Amino acid sequence: MTLHPPTTLDAAPSFIANAEFGHENVLISTGRRSGLVISVAVHSTALGQALGGARMWNYPHWTDAVADALRLSAAMTLKNSAAGLNRGGGKSVIHLPMGVTLTDAEKRDAMLDLGDAIESLNGAYMTAEDVGTSAELMAIVAERTEHVCGLPTDLGGVGEPADATSAGVYASILATCEALFGSRDVRGRHIVISGLGQVGGRLARALASAGAVLTVSDINLDRKLLAAELGATWVDADEAHRVDADLFVPCGLGGALSPQVIAELQVDGVVGAANNQLAYRHGAAELAGRGILWAPDFVVNGGGVIYLDMATRPDADAEAITLRVEAIGETVATIFRESVAEGITTLDAAERLAEARLVAA
Ligand SMILES: NC(=O)c1ccc[n+]([C@@H]2O[C@H](COP(=O)([O-])OP(=O)(O)OC[C@H]3O[C@@H](n4cnc5c(N)ncnc54)[C@H](O)[C@@H]3O)[C@@H](O)[C@H]2O)c1
Repeated sequence: MTLHPPTTLDAAPSFIANAEFGHENVLISTGRRSGLVISVAVHSTALGQALGGARMWNYPHWTDAVADALRLSAAMTLKNSAAGLNRGGGKSVIHLPMGVTLTDAEKRDAMLDLGDAIESLNGAYMTAEDVGTSAELMAIVAERTEHVCGLPTDLGGVGEPADATSAGVYASILATCEALFGSRDVRGRHIVISGLGQVGGRLARALASAGAVLTVSDINLDRKLLAAELGATWVDADEAHRVDADLFVPCGLGGALSPQVIAELQVDGVVGAANNQLAYRHGAAELAGRGILWAPDFVVNGGGVIYLDMATRPDADAEAITLRVEAIGETVATIFRESVAEGITTLDAAERLAEARLVAA
C-alpha cells in the first residue's frame, strides 16, 4: 500500500444515517489476503436478491466504512423498489485507511476477498462496480462468486451502466420541465450541470443536442474541453449553484444540497444523478419552501440498477430496458403529483412509493 493525499467522498450525512437499524444481515470481515476490513450490508431481500455496488474508499476509521455500508444499503432498498425491480437493497464497502492507495496486486487481493465474503452470503446479495471500483475489478470478484454483475463487455459482461443512468436522468429532466413549465421541450431552457463525469458528460451532450442552453462546471478543469466542444458556458464549481437558470443538475458527489446551497439556488428545479444529494433531510422541505421543485435522487438515478438487473437476465431485451428507464420520468411525474395532492415533500412522496412495494412484499 502506498500513501496518497486523503480525499473525501459522498458519504453525505443523509437521513438514512438517522434511520433505525433494520438490516437483515451485515457481514464484517478482515480479508485474509488483503487484511482490509470488508463490510457487506444486506438491508432487505423482501423484493428479491439485494443489488448494490462495491465501494472501495478512504475513511478515517473502519467503523465509518461500516456506517457507509449501512446507510448506502438502506438507500439501495428504496432505489430498487422505486425502480420497480424485484431486487432488495445491499452494498459492500472496502475500508482503505486515510492516505492509502492500493497497487494492482493489492486491489486484486481485495477483490478476491470481497468475492469470498459475498459468496458466503449464499446469494442474498449481488454486487457491481461503484466508486473506487470498476468493471475490470468486478471480473476479479467473479473468480470467487457468481453474484456479481457489470463485468466488462469483452469478458461477456454487460459493462458499466452510465448510459442508462444518464437516460433516466434525462427522462426525469423532461418530467420536471413539464411540471414546471408545462412543456417537455428543453430547447432554450437554461440548465446548469455540476459534475461532467460519466453521467454528467453524457447528459451534457444529450441536452446540448436537444438545444438546451448549458452552463457547466467540474472540479476537474480538464472537463473544460467538453464545455468548449458543446458551446457551454463554464463556471467555477463553487459558483454553479448560484447561476440564475431554469434547472440545477447535480452530477458530482453527494451532499451537494447543503443549507447554504439551498438558500443560494437561483433555479426553479433541481434534478440530477448524484446520490445522497440532500446533506440533511429537512433540505427537502426547505427546497419546497423556496418554491424549488426537487426530483428525489434515488428515483432519478435508478437507470443504472434497472440496466444491471434487466441486462443480466437470460431473456434480456434492449428495447424493454430502454422503455423501463424512460418510465423513470413517469415515476417522477407521479411523485410530483402526489406531493402536491398530499401536501408532502417530494422526498416523502418518493419514500411512500418505494415503501408501498416493500410493504406489499
Ligand atoms: N455511473 C452511474 O451509473 C451512476 C448511477 C447512479 C448514481 N450515480 C451517481 O451520480 C454521480 C455521478 O456519477 P458518475 O458515474 O458520473 O461519476 P464520475 O466520477 O464519473 O463523475 C463525477 C464528476 O463530478 C466531478 N465532481 C466531483 N465533485 C464535484 C463538485 N463539488 N463540483 C463539481 N464537480 C464535481 C468529478 O470531477 C467528476 O468529473 C455520483 O454521485 C454517483 O454516485 C452514478
